[in-house]
Amino acid sequence: MGYHQAVKGTHLEALPYGRVYNFSAGPGTLPVEVLEEARDDLLNYKGCGMSVMEMSHRSKDYEAIHYETIRSLRTILNIPDDWGVLFLQGGASLQNAMVPMNLAIEGKTPNYIDTGTWGHKSIGDAKKLGPVHIAWTSEPSNFDHAPEDDEPNFSDDVSYIYFTSNETIQGVDYLRDPKFAPDVPVVCDMSSNILSRPMDLGRYDVIFAGAQKNQGPAGVATVILSPRALEIASQKDLPLMLSWKKAHEADSIHNTPPCWAIYMCGLYYKWVIKEGGLDEMARRAEKRSSLIYDVIDQSEGFYIGHAQKKNRSKMNISFRTVNEELDKKFIQEAEANGMKTIAGHRSVGGMRASMYNAFPVSGAELLAEFMKDFAKRNA
Ligand SMILES: Cc1ncc(COP(=O)(O)O)c(C=O)c1O
Repeated sequence: MGYHQAVKGTHLEALPYGRVYNFSAGPGTLPVEVLEEARDDLLNYKGCGMSVMEMSHRSKDYEAIHYETIRSLRTILNIPDDWGVLFLQGGASLQNAMVPMNLAIEGKTPNYIDTGTWGHKSIGDAKKLGPVHIAWTSEPSNFDHAPEDDEPNFSDDVSYIYFTSNETIQGVDYLRDPKFAPDVPVVCDMSSNILSRPMDLGRYDVIFAGAQKNQGPAGVATVILSPRALEIASQKDLPLMLSWKKAHEADSIHNTPPCWAIYMCGLYYKWVIKEGGLDEMARRAEKRSSLIYDVIDQSEGFYIGHAQKKNRSKMNISFRTVNEELDKKFIQEAEANGMKTIAGHRSVGGMRASMYNAFPVSGAELLAEFMKDFAKRNA
């Protein structure tokens, strides 16, 4: 019996509704239970006679969903009451502009750490709004690692420090909550690893993340603000949709919020809590990612991982084979065997296996078996 019947059969049968293993980097796989609950509520949300998409954002029913979603995120991350939790539109990308607008201080310089495509983009946007100091970059080694805490070279007049905890495209993760020396606000783009492990909130002042990887669907970004960040932002007089202060004062109902996306995040957060919280999410991430990294490490050079071992992402595994022809063949065969969206980002090439919280461990088992079989047949 070939690989196709023996391995694919058992693992794909584990999935309901004819679903496949979706390795997309975002929007990514959602928990089936969350999709089922949304389906059941779709036409008539809990007897209100309408869907969440059709409800006034000022209605009691929507307000209940909205505040419960905020409470669930506070519970999962242990966010104190004097911190802000915002749900904003514009994706994670809008925060590239909102961070300097809300946090920059006249006469001081934002310091950025550049570990890959997303950090790089944030720097590009911040530079349009004022001078920026790049305290550290891994560009010379093609963004394959993150710095140790004492490596960045901060300027004397730093206003805030900015870093990307997990570079989704390169698959580079700090795997810790860094503690940099200057006592200034620390901003983190946590889009692709938020809620994937317990963390020390006290190391951060601003955490933001597009929802479509580890929290829900596209259309909303979460922004978490420390009292220190709120204090700085409260001094700014910015247009409504660019102001953290105005969003915070209105609990993110300063205009029509992305109600459906927030509702979906609420279901997702409840799922995280029910499954065992961040400890359990971390355990699953470790299991999934080590299955794949073990195959890479034991492949005698057939597979090459992009990130250095000390910064290997547990969410996005970027790797390739020895040549582009084989990469193409790998992607085609993987697709034919129910492993979809596994091509690497066009800027890096090769393959990328993104496995967020909701990605089943059985999908990582299938990929690991397939990788071993593919290497045997093509080495
Ligand atoms: C780390 C990181 N930051 C920012 C973004 C941009 O997110 P959005 O498309 O929500 O603007 C992405 C998207 O993949 C990402 O992975």
